[in-house]
Amino acid sequence: MIIKNNNTFHLQGRNISYIMAVSSAGDLIHIHFGKKLRDRDYSDIKTVWHDWLAYTDDGISLDLYPQEYPSYGHSDLRFPSYSVKNRHGNHITQLKFKSAVIKENAVQQLEGMPSLFQGGKTAQTLEITMYDEIAGLEAVLSYTVYDEYDVVLRSARLKNNSDCEMIIDSAYSASLDIGKGEHDLIYFPGAWARERELVREKISYGVKIDISNARGGSGHSMNPFIMVAEHNADEGHGAVYGLSLIYSGNHSSMVECDQYGNIRIHQGLNPFRFQWSLENGEEFTTPQSVLCYSENGIGGLSRELNDIYRSNLCRSKWSDRERPILINNWEATYFDFDEEKILDIAKKAKDVGVELFVLDDGWFGDKGSCYKGLGDWIINKKKLPSGISGLADKINSIGLKFGLWFEPENINPDSEILLSHPDWAVSVSDRASSLSINRLMFDLSRDDVCDYIINKISGILRNANIEYVKWDMNRPMTDIPYDGYNHKYTLGFYRIMDAITSAFPDILFEGCSGGGGRFDAGVLAYMPQIWTSDNSDAVSRLKIQYSTSMGYPVSSMTAHVTAVPNHQNGRVTPLGTRAATAYCGIFGYELDITKMKDDELLEIADQIRLSKELRHLVLTGDFYRLISPYDTNYCAWEMTAKDSSEAFLFACRILSVANSSDLMIKLKGLDENSDYLDVDTGVIYGGDELMYRGIEPVYEKKDFAAVSMLLKKL
Ligand code: DGJ
Repeated sequence: MIIKNNNTFHLQGRNISYIMAVSSAGDLIHIHFGKKLRDRDYSDIKTVWHDWLAYTDDGISLDLYPQEYPSYGHSDLRFPSYSVKNRHGNHITQLKFKSAVIKENAVQQLEGMPSLFQGGKTAQTLEITMYDEIAGLEAVLSYTVYDEYDVVLRSARLKNNSDCEMIIDSAYSASLDIGKGEHDLIYFPGAWARERELVREKISYGVKIDISNARGGSGHSMNPFIMVAEHNADEGHGAVYGLSLIYSGNHSSMVECDQYGNIRIHQGLNPFRFQWSLENGEEFTTPQSVLCYSENGIGGLSRELNDIYRSNLCRSKWSDRERPILINNWEATYFDFDEEKILDIAKKAKDVGVELFVLDDGWFGDKGSCYKGLGDWIINKKKLPSGISGLADKINSIGLKFGLWFEPENINPDSEILLSHPDWAVSVSDRASSLSINRLMFDLSRDDVCDYIINKISGILRNANIEYVKWDMNRPMTDIPYDGYNHKYTLGFYRIMDAITSAFPDILFEGCSGGGGRFDAGVLAYMPQIWTSDNSDAVSRLKIQYSTSMGYPVSSMTAHVTAVPNHQNGRVTPLGTRAATAYCGIFGYELDITKMKDDELLEIADQIRLSKELRHLVLTGDFYRLISPYDTNYCAWEMTAKDSSEAFLFACRILSVANSSDLMIKLKGLDENSDYLDVDTGVIYGGDELMYRGIEPVYEKKDFAAVSMLLKKL
């Protein structure tokens, strides 16, 4: 609900209030984002200033004010929300309140970019127009709040009302001045096979600007999700702010702690190598930033974001459907396969309960590898004599659905299409482009290139019974032709994803980018699941999935059981641990099942039976992180039905320790007055006992021992 009281705007979510006021000087002042407050008129804001600070004629120094969309250089000298070069060649602007409108039953929708939708909830949007007369700059700040959630959606629209060109050097989606206090910054840097490592550090004086990525997609190296938590906040307690950007290109979040200890946060497009020119009357809209707040620690914030991302982000009909258990041939065969091998894998997989076979990279081009044929997408008939459609039919007659891998955005330099359209790759005119795995990138800033990709991929999807698509992207962006190009490319990427996913609503799409290099809410708006990491080692996955789950629902994280020694790090872990680690995700296999022994196949059949029982919890349950693999030799997490009727506990002791006693695990989200049956052992526990006393799992005496437990309320 949005309440306007004189000059105060009060946005109320389920448990939160977001309050701002227009000061007597027309500045938009931030009052509060946190626990829900009763409404009152907050417009009697004091204007405070110190003698030696810069201040305006009316004695106001914005350097001391918490603001909604601050500018730089007039009296506020902290990092600004935006930077625009005006007609006089300087960057000094000062936005003043002009008007506000409250839109009933409306969620901000951004043209050409993904955003949350209303999805049956009650939502209102406030649009505040700010204006700088001298520069002719208009900024429309948009805020959406839902009655049912604890989030505020923000974006900004800048418009040039002057009679000459205006250059935007930066434009963040949201800024948040949270004031003083001992706070920690939590963010997720990483690399290929080590995506989204959890880093938590105390915020101290100065500016931390490098929570960003300028590698093309949202990137392996930094995720566009951050949290700012009270220093003593943990999984279950304390105040935590989260900012999640719905965007898949170069992004930036930054935190400044000023000379008085006030904390300012920004999130949005990365200003590095960004520029956008606006002629008279033109506008620029930023991506959407989701601001979330919880009093219940990091876990409370995650579950809030999980709920809204599961229900109000992805339009695919698969977003709330149980996903098929798949087998993918990548780690089983890499490029070395033919139809016979594929069918052997599929038959064996069907016998143990798999539901979907996915043919990965290497089905096209005369060499049958990704080094040749990307962009042309001509089926390699030597490997697949019946083509994709013939293979799909054969897989279907085994009783499995058929899925196919694509890498729509990339192209090999010697592909036919590039030879006939040499200007279709991202490049600069004065030097040769950098290759990455012999790939160039299609220039998605061009409509004709986007149309080619849409038609080409759609043609293949139309001509075979393809029920799942893995959409890969395996290179960073180099040779960027001009500043702002990355955003134009990203808009093209959204155009082709939108066109293809809407034309094939029955297909289950999975995002991927060299593993989890584009794991973001922008991709999740089109595809309900993303390949979490190429690192499928169970121990590595503990950390990767633990930290990924802080910002994204487990129903978006695909998790496959692969062979040992693990192909990425050589580690040998038990088959049971590999599966147990993957249950709280979108479960599947990626190994040569034809080489598995009979007892392993029986174990796999059991695993698949269990994962089918757990699928609804992955989609709808609450996820609790119980013990952190970042801090201990253990990892434990739990999925609990929202009505507390069942729960699934996973725990792993990473290295075996002689003569030690293991950590007790206290479960969450159960009914303390009910009893729960451990389905495997038949033991009955009280909900209160499981939550307040805890249990000590019995691990086998070996490294990487895992325990799981399905509990049903009696
Ligand atoms: C990277 C993906 O993450 C892998 O799963 C696989 O699809 C390869 N690309 C294929 O090139």
